[in-house]
Amino acid sequence: MVHLGRPPVEPGGPVNPPVVLSSTYHQGAARIYAREGDPVSDALESAVGGLEGGEAVAFATGIAAVAAVVEMLPVPGRVVVGADAYNGTRALLSDLASRGRLRVRLVDLADTAAVLAACAELAGSPGRPSGQEADFGAGGLLWVESPSNPLLAVADLPALVAGAHGLGFDVAADNTFSTPVLSQPLLAGADVVVHSATKALGGHSDALLGVAVSSRPELVAGLRRRRTLHGAVPGPWETWLVLRGIRTLSLRVERSQANAVELARRLRDHPAVERVHYPGLPEDPGYERMGAQMAGPGFVVSFVVRPGALGAAETAEAVTSGVRLATAATSLGGVETLIERRGRIPGEEHLPPGLLRCSVGIEGLEDIWSDLDHALRAATGLPRG
Ligand SMILES: Cc1ncc(COP(=O)(O)O)c(C=O)c1O
Repeated sequence: MVHLGRPPVEPGGPVNPPVVLSSTYHQGAARIYAREGDPVSDALESAVGGLEGGEAVAFATGIAAVAAVVEMLPVPGRVVVGADAYNGTRALLSDLASRGRLRVRLVDLADTAAVLAACAELAGSPGRPSGQEADFGAGGLLWVESPSNPLLAVADLPALVAGAHGLGFDVAADNTFSTPVLSQPLLAGADVVVHSATKALGGHSDALLGVAVSSRPELVAGLRRRRTLHGAVPGPWETWLVLRGIRTLSLRVERSQANAVELARRLRDHPAVERVHYPGLPEDPGYERMGAQMAGPGFVVSFVVRPGALGAAETAEAVTSGVRLATAATSLGGVETLIERRGRIPGEEHLPPGLLRCSVGIEGLEDIWSDLDHALRAATGLPRG
């Protein structure tokens, strides 16, 4: 993380890749126009590719990376995806399904048998269609997000990859919540990994960016081609900010995760909290899988607030408006603690109305805790602790 993507060592040369603000380049060399990439995005791609164990292609946003992967599917494509996958990904898939370009099944990704049954049903037959081995998603695509968003369910990634491949499906993993610090899905056999680098890779809530990574050369070529065709290329400032963020990624993940583990324990015992979803708690359904597959449970904790005199949604909203240190805002993976009632987002109405998702930051643990504790007590009418 500290050293990948540095310029070559030469006397007087820069230690960091310089931002190049030029849309076009003098002719006579391979690089001719910035829509095919620029020096900082080359550096970022070499860093993320190195961290995930593949070759990376940077995009303007995370959803552009998702769209590029989906765009490579044949028509009609067949996609099995978690019912609580990122709502933007679900919205994209259902838009394409409504126009006849995809057939989509929503499943509980933690239920391996149900996922593979949905793949088998969509595939129509147990084997990969013959003669299409080289085509991405010719048999179908399994889209995995683990831990899921926002219920933090953990999928059995190795079992899903083996089962899906056996049914002729390719596997895409959105690794935004885990980051390569905690999980490397390509090494578990996934065909392609995507990131909203807007989140933990950038880490400072100041840039939108996406990345797709694969170790299959034809997929990498397909992703680059999609990016050039669609023009979803990142700007040099954003790319530079995300590369700079990656330099401290492991420190930030370690610190925010340590905060999250302790906050989850305290929230579990808090009188204003009904339920905590966090695979770092031993009683969580995802705890054992997380321990077997991941280097840690991550920095996002979701919890359901016990309704006070108001309804569940209003009580949870009162918590988000009562915090002073944490920020009531969407997104995750930044240095600052963010908290949000997910049910307020269009497409997330199926979630418990009192569910709050908290992306834990790197602030002092006791500062975050006294803020949350105070807001929870005020919202539910409990006396100050
Ligand atoms: C898991 C996940 N994947 C993809 C995205 C889309 O990323 P972006 O906002 O960078 O387009 C998000 C954004 O919230 C996300 O949480």
